[in-house]
Amino acid sequence: TSAPLTSIANIGQHEGATVTLRGWLYNLRSSGKLLFPTFRDGTGTIQGIVPKAAVPEEVFNTLKELQLESSVVVTGKVRADSRAPSGYELDVENVKVQQAVSADEPFPITLKEHGPDFLMERRHLWMRTPRQSAILRVRATIMRAAQEFFDTQDFTRTDPPILTPAACEGTSELFEMKYFEEGNAYLTQSGQLYIEATALALGKVYSFGPTFRAEKSKTRRHLTEFWMIEPEVAYADLDDLMKLAEDFLSHIVMRVLEKHRIDLKTITGGDEKAAKLEKIQAPFPKISYDEAHAMLEKAFAEGAIEKPHEYGDDFGAPDETYISNQFDRPVMVHRYPAVVKAFYMQPDPADPTKALCVDVLAPEGYGEIIGGSQRIDSYDLLKERILSHDLPLEAFEWYLDLRKYGSVPHSGFGMGIERCVAWVCGLEHVRETIPFARTLNRIYP
Ligand code: 4AD
Ligand code: MG
Repeated sequence: TSAPLTSIANIGQHEGATVTLRGWLYNLRSSGKLLFPTFRDGTGTIQGIVPKAAVPEEVFNTLKELQLESSVVVTGKVRADSRAPSGYELDVENVKVQQAVSADEPFPITLKEHGPDFLMERRHLWMRTPRQSAILRVRATIMRAAQEFFDTQDFTRTDPPILTPAACEGTSELFEMKYFEEGNAYLTQSGQLYIEATALALGKVYSFGPTFRAEKSKTRRHLTEFWMIEPEVAYADLDDLMKLAEDFLSHIVMRVLEKHRIDLKTITGGDEKAAKLEKIQAPFPKISYDEAHAMLEKAFAEGAIEKPHEYGDDFGAPDETYISNQFDRPVMVHRYPAVVKAFYMQPDPADPTKALCVDVLAPEGYGEIIGGSQRIDSYDLLKERILSHDLPLEAFEWYLDLRKYGSVPHSGFGMGIERCVAWVCGLEHVRETIPFARTLNRIYP
């Protein structure tokens, strides 16, 4: 009982010593007088060895009958084993059961395959499995690395409101709610308009928080509630922004590789993902919309894609997949036609039908993970755009003020954390990238 408490992640520091672990029984195999329980504690999993002769009889018998996911406090001696995923095994000396799961109602998530609906309905339990826990650990590192990148480059974090009076990214995807006598409020789609204000106050700023979109699309990339980190920089142009985005993504991937090699293996089943991530270093390839369109035209002519890309249209998911598959790093596609992009984007002086914007497409068909642009800095042009997009002028008076008082060129982007996690972890669907995903058909649990 005096054995020091440790975690599975740190168990290597205690090789040869007896330690205490507090966790849960993840799996149990037995062969006669030997039990092989696998324990998990939130930091990883470790296999224990329990020879009948080595522990009190009562401990052996209790463990033998113990249901999976019962909570346990285990003491045992740490032994290095190169075959074990964590590099260590535990020679169990004692097990204290904190709470025994009833055999009448065993843990519903088993090692066999379950369908996504079954799992999402039990998300509160599914997240205990090693793969799901590993994804959530990588997510936490991505969020920390993203903030760290800006914090260490003199950005000030300025979080915008969640309840807003108007749309940022287009009116069709707004969640609307009653707001006292004022009338209606909307859940924010992006903090951008507000951090344009804080950028003109503080120079380099970022925001980080949940954003909401009433997406009717049921795809593997869309959530209705997701986390976005958004930098905004006064005096920055599109080239500065693209440089910021490639340095930012390289930093995030570096941190994940530093900390999560075992987790990446747990998640993907091999080392190939880590090898691909090693290549994610700035600079990234940069192509214009026109160049991307030409690539797609050629691909269609060669039969590499099924549908032709119509010049002037946004790229569809198969188009993005094709483009991103031509590169081993994220590709930055810039200068889209202004008509397919948001109202606030600065036109390209060389061709005003194009916007000074950039979408960063992740490799391996993960699609857009970052969207950003230089912002319109002229009062007159911005007002014209607000009107031509049928947006309520009153709600944007304050936003127009920013072009009245010391307007400057400025640029920013937004990265959806879940899209980034899906790419870095090589996941099929964004629903696995967040503790409790919100989608068109699900707000339970
Ligand atoms: O491209 P979007 O719509 O850009 C903006 O919201 C800008 N106001 C950001 C800015 O310039 N400050 O969204 C930015 C990113 C996307 O690239 C994607 O990663 C993510 O947000 N995103 C979603 N992630 C999950 N589910 C959804 N429904 C998403 N919609 C956008
Ligand atoms: Mg976008």
